[in-house]
Amino acid sequence: MITELSGDLSGIKDHYIEKLEMMLDNIFSSSELVSIDFLQQLSDIASVIGKNLAVLINRRGEVLRIKVGELTEDFFAGVQQRRSVKRLSGLRCIYLTFNSGLDRKSKIFLKEYRLDLLLHLSFSNKQSGIKAMLHYPKLNEGKLIIGSKTVGPFSLEELVDIDYLAEIESIEDKLQTVETVKVTGAESEKAILVGLMTESDTKYKQDELLNELESLVQTAGIEVCGKEVQHRKHPDHSYYIGYGKVQELKELKYQFGVNVIIFNDELSPAQQRNLEEELELKVIDRTEVILDIFAQHANSKEGKLQVELAQLNYLLPRLTGKGKDLSRLAGGIGTRGPGESKLEIDRRRIRKRIDNLEAEINRVQQTRATQRSRRKLPTVSVVGYTNAGKSTLLNRLTEATAVVKDELFATLDSNTCRLKLPIGRKVLISDTVGFIRKLPHQLIAAFRATLEEVTEADVLLHVVDITQHDYKAKMDAVLEVLAELDVLDKPIITILNKADLIEEQEKIELIEQELENSLVLSAKNGRGIDDLLAEISNFLLDTMVELELLLPYSDAGALELIHKRGKVFTEEYSNEGIFIRARISQEIANQVDEDYIISRKSLA
Ligand code: GTP
Repeated sequence: MITELSGDLSGIKDHYIEKLEMMLDNIFSSSELVSIDFLQQLSDIASVIGKNLAVLINRRGEVLRIKVGELTEDFFAGVQQRRSVKRLSGLRCIYLTFNSGLDRKSKIFLKEYRLDLLLHLSFSNKQSGIKAMLHYPKLNEGKLIIGSKTVGPFSLEELVDIDYLAEIESIEDKLQTVETVKVTGAESEKAILVGLMTESDTKYKQDELLNELESLVQTAGIEVCGKEVQHRKHPDHSYYIGYGKVQELKELKYQFGVNVIIFNDELSPAQQRNLEEELELKVIDRTEVILDIFAQHANSKEGKLQVELAQLNYLLPRLTGKGKDLSRLAGGIGTRGPGESKLEIDRRRIRKRIDNLEAEINRVQQTRATQRSRRKLPTVSVVGYTNAGKSTLLNRLTEATAVVKDELFATLDSNTCRLKLPIGRKVLISDTVGFIRKLPHQLIAAFRATLEEVTEADVLLHVVDITQHDYKAKMDAVLEVLAELDVLDKPIITILNKADLIEEQEKIELIEQELENSLVLSAKNGRGIDDLLAEISNFLLDTMVELELLLPYSDAGALELIHKRGKVFTEEYSNEGIFIRARISQEIANQVDEDYIISRKSLA
C-alpha cells in the first residue's frame, strides 16, 4: 500500500525523513505552480541524501505524495483523479534527478496518468546549479501521445510566476474536442443519487430536484447508476436517511459497482462521517458537487480565490480524528491515520490559509471597485437560472465570445462586454453565474464577486428558459436571490428564451401576458433581439435626466463626477461659477446640491 511518503528510506537520517513528512503538509495557492521555499528544501534534501525525489501535487495545491528514488508506476497508483475523462488528471509531478535529461519512462507516465505537467529539476551540473524544465503533455490530433512539450530552462524564481494553468487549459480545450479519450489507470466514477422526501415536499418537486442533481453530477463528469428517494417525516439525525435505507444502499453499491453516493442536500459533518463508515464508500453532498463544478470552471483570479475559500470553509468542520476524513483533503489517498496533533496542525494550517485568502480577496475587490468607479457607461446585468441561455444571449448581443456549453454552470466569472444600442449609446453588459435552487448559502457569499455586478447594474435582464415546465419555480429561485441582494427595485426585463423550441404560439403568448415586462426571444436564432435592444434603450433613457446647473467654484469637484458619469454638452466659466448643461442618470443628479440646479428635464 502506498503511503504519502514512500520509496527507499534506508540510510536516510530521521531528521530528513521528518522534513520530508512536513513537506507533505504544504498547500500552495491554487494559481501557484510551486513555491521557491519548497523547491529549495527539496533540492537541499536531495543533495544531502543523494537520491532522486518525486512529488505529486493536485490542482488545489495540496502535496499528495513524496517518493524517494526513481519515478515508478506505483507512485501514481490509486490516486483519485479528476472525474471528467475529457480532462487532464489535475495532478502535477515534480521530479528531481541527477541526470540532465528526462527519461522516456517519465514521459510515458506523463501520458498514461494524464498529468497536468511534469516539472523536471536536475542537478547535472554543479556549477550552474539546478536546471528546471517544464514538460507539458503532448497532443496529436486531440489525443495524448508519449512525449512532452518542453519549455525552459527556468530559474527557481521564474518558475513561481509561470501561468501554467493557462497552458493546461489550452491543452484541455484541445482534448475536449475528441469524443472519447481512453483513460489509463483511472476509473471513471459511478454514483447513486439519494434524495429525501419529507411531508412538506410534493412528489413532483422531489423528482425535479433529483433530475437537477443528476445534471450537476454529470457536469462534474460522474456517471449516474441509480436514483433513490426515501419518504420520511424528518431527516434522520445520524444518517440523514433511515438506517434501513442505508442497508439497502449497501446492496445497491455491490449491484451497480458504484464508488460514490451523492445526497441531494447538505449533510452535516457527522451524518457524512456516519454514512461513510456504514457504507464503506465515499459519500458526498450537493454542496460538494457544486463546489467541484465551481472549481473546474472559475476563471478569474477572484473567482479562483473565492472557490478555494468556499472549499476550505466547507472542509474545516469535516476534519475530525479519522484518517479517512483527512484523506478528503489529500484527494482521497490518505492511508496514514493522522493523530489529533496532526489534525490540529491541519486545522491551523487551513485557518491560516483562509485568513490569507480573505485578505487577498479584499485586495482584489478593492482594485475592482476602483476600476468600476472609473467606468462611465451604464450597465446591464444578465441574470437567470443556470442553463437558461445567458451566455448565448450575451453572444448574440455582442461580439463577445462568452463560454457557451450545454453544461450547467458554464459561466462562473462575470463576463463584461461593451454593447452599442440603436440609439447610439454604449452600455456595458455583463453575464453572471447561473442561479440555482438550494444554492448552498456559503456559495452565495463566495460568488458575491459575480453578483456585485448585479448590485451595480442600471437594468437587469432575467433570462428564463420557458421550455422547462418548472420555469416558474426557477424564476422564483432567481428572484429570491435578487431579493437577498436587495436589487428588486431595479428595472427588470424578463426574457422568455428558447421560444424557437416551442411550437404552439398561443402557449408563448399566454406566458407573455402573464408576466410583467416580458419579451419573447430566442438567443439561438435571434428572434426578439431588436425588441430587446429597444427595451433596454427605453429603460436607460427612463433613468436619465438633462440638467442645467450653476456650480460655485468652491464645489467644482462635482463637475468631475458629472464628466465621469454623464455627458456634458455645455461648460461655461463666469464670475458666478461654472454653467453646465449635461445628461446624467437620475441617481447622480440626486447627488447634486438642489441649490445649484437651474432646470431638470426627464428624458422618459
Ligand atoms: P450557465 O453558465 O450554466 O449559467 O448557463 P447559461 O444560462 O449561460 O446558458 P448557455 O448560454 O450556456 O446555454 C445553455 C444551453 O442552452 C446551450 O446548449 C445553448 O445552446 C442553449 N440555448 C441557449 N439559448 C437558446 C435558444 O434560444 N434556443 C435554443 N434552442 N437553445 C438555446
